[in-house]
Amino acid sequence: GSCAVVVVAAGSGQRLGHGVPKARVPLAGSPMLVHAVRGVLKAGIAAQICVAIPEGDAALASICEQLAAEAATAGVLFTAVDGGAERSASVTAALEVIADGVTNIMIHDAARPLTPSGVFNRVAAALRDGAAAVIPALAVTDTIKTVVPASLPATGAGLEKVVDTPARHQLRAVQTPQGFRLDTLRRAHEYLLTLDAAAAASITDDAMLVEALGEVVFVVQGSTHSLKITTPMDLLLAEAMLAGPLR
Ligand code: C5P
Repeated sequence: GSCAVVVVAAGSGQRLGHGVPKARVPLAGSPMLVHAVRGVLKAGIAAQICVAIPEGDAALASICEQLAAEAATAGVLFTAVDGGAERSASVTAALEVIADGVTNIMIHDAARPLTPSGVFNRVAAALRDGAAAVIPALAVTDTIKTVVPASLPATGAGLEKVVDTPARHQLRAVQTPQGFRLDTLRRAHEYLLTLDAAAAASITDDAMLVEALGEVVFVVQGSTHSLKITTPMDLLLAEAMLAGPLR
């Protein structure tokens, strides 16, 4: 079947502190979105690329025109849509413009512009082999705790306390692209519409919705190069990767 890749790029990027939407922040001279879309084109798995950008962002719209031309050269349909206030709303907007004949879909963060082709290929291969949902992930190196708010006995100072330590060998840090059969992801987003605001806000990736439907979500190997650029430190690391030895 044919595959569409949605690149969500409608976030504000406030934690990066650049004062412009994150997708426009330059990396080795080109906007992050350009790196992300070229990465999808290079992987050679997409018949359509759909980018969700902030509504009214003329600079990103013009970057998309240039990317549409590059996609056309590669025989890939390119579509840009206005994103929403939440990441999930940006995905919903993209789902409305997926071309006829598309059977599989990947949702990818523009904030992971250095994702290697191998990761796209592993996700695509699992979909080809019958997975309805598949995500790339890495084993975690830190021990992860579950915490709740707590007050210090003497002063009442507000801290947190540990309530659980999940077994580290079972934990994975999840990345994108997340791959789905298109009908499965459409059902997941219909389910999202039935949730109240608090429940909807607790959904942090597309796979969570598919899990809630009771579908099996398979896991393939991610990559350290797929890091999500969130803080100035991440930007420094990405620049270093592009400059050479880590490439
Ligand atoms: O904010 P965060 O880094 O978790 O965002 C992950 C991805 O989701 C980014 O690529 C961002 O542009 C995208 N996003 C979006 N629409 C939103 C919020 C985030 O497309 N409303």
